[in-house]
Amino acid sequence: MNRVAPYVTPLIPAFAVIGFFVWFSNWIPQTRWQAPQAQTINASLTPAELAKVGQTIVRERGCLACHTIEPGAGVKGAGRGPNLAGVATRRAQGVEGGLGNLVEYLAQSLYEPGAYLVEGFANIMPPSTSAPASLSYEEVVAVVAYLQSLGKTPTVKVGDIPNPRGARATGEAAAPATGATADPAAMFVSLGCEACHSLKPGEVKLGPALDVPSMKEAASQRRMSIEAYFVESIVDPKAYERKGFPSGVMPLDYGTRLTAAQLDSLMRYLITSRLERQ
Ligand code: HEC
Ligand code: HEC
Repeated sequence: MNRVAPYVTPLIPAFAVIGFFVWFSNWIPQTRWQAPQAQTINASLTPAELAKVGQTIVRERGCLACHTIEPGAGVKGAGRGPNLAGVATRRAQGVEGGLGNLVEYLAQSLYEPGAYLVEGFANIMPPSTSAPASLSYEEVVAVVAYLQSLGKTPTVKVGDIPNPRGARATGEAAAPATGATADPAAMFVSLGCEACHSLKPGEVKLGPALDVPSMKEAASQRRMSIEAYFVESIVDPKAYERKGFPSGVMPLDYGTRLTAAQLDSLMRYLITSRLERQ
């Protein structure tokens, strides 16, 4: 018998408990929750699996900035766009004077929202394959499956709906910043800015009007030059959020999608050139 044993023996239960927790915490899968990746969407997914992915996409890509999903509330709902609950039942036969099939209609409403305007709504929805949603073809299919599931049983699979040119394939890099020609007025539209911002003073859309006087005021509150404030607002919208506007709605990825030249050209178009004219 050595002299250490009497001290160690009473501690054995404690070692056992610690040992158990060490084992247990290593046993718990060491994963963090991650958004489903576009790469996981492929032809082997069932329509129900696609619909689940589509639900996440609809939540994360800004659709709910305009649309609500309110069962029983009718087409109007409380959003700026139609209530999507029951859209599959409502459009089971497509639309009068337009496409006569649910899947084709849903695909069209994502690719070319202006092709058929739901009565009582303005033509403000950006095509889902452009900013801000920038859906790939596979993501469009998943969203169609999810929309189908709002009232009916989803049936679409990858490959069932056409893949028009313009929708990038899964795995391809995000669309190169749109408006590569750096024509700022065209960029303002193609990047989706126009859907949320007006250039007319006081005209509030989803975001504030980007007129020079109100931008100057916001910049001075932020103690920045108007140019620096403008660039910060685009590249890092969360850095400073205007009160009275929905938070987290403006896409966060413009900073990675725009080249410096494009950003500069947009800034000059929106601020400098108009400041000079004043
Ligand atoms: C800027 C606001 C806005 C955003 C963002 C937006 N939509 Fe829309 N959407 C509308 C409006 C307004 C209409 C009705 C006018 C029309 O038909 O284009 C509409 C129409 C639709 C319709 C047809 C509904 C019906 O009852 O026939 C579907 C489906 C749809 N949107 C899905 C989506 C999805 C999915 C997204 C996200 C990828 C999205 N929308 C993003 C505003 C928006
Ligand atoms: C889906 C809607 C949406 C899109 C698309 C969008 N924005 Fe915004 N933007 C907002 C909202 C909402 C705010 C106010 C909340 C905040 O500060 O984030 C905002 C804030 C801003 C501000 C700060 C304005 C101020 O007065 O403080 C600027 C500048 C701006 N956006 C420019 C742009 C430009 C340029 C684009 C296109 C490249 C763009 N936004 C695209 C919704 C949008």
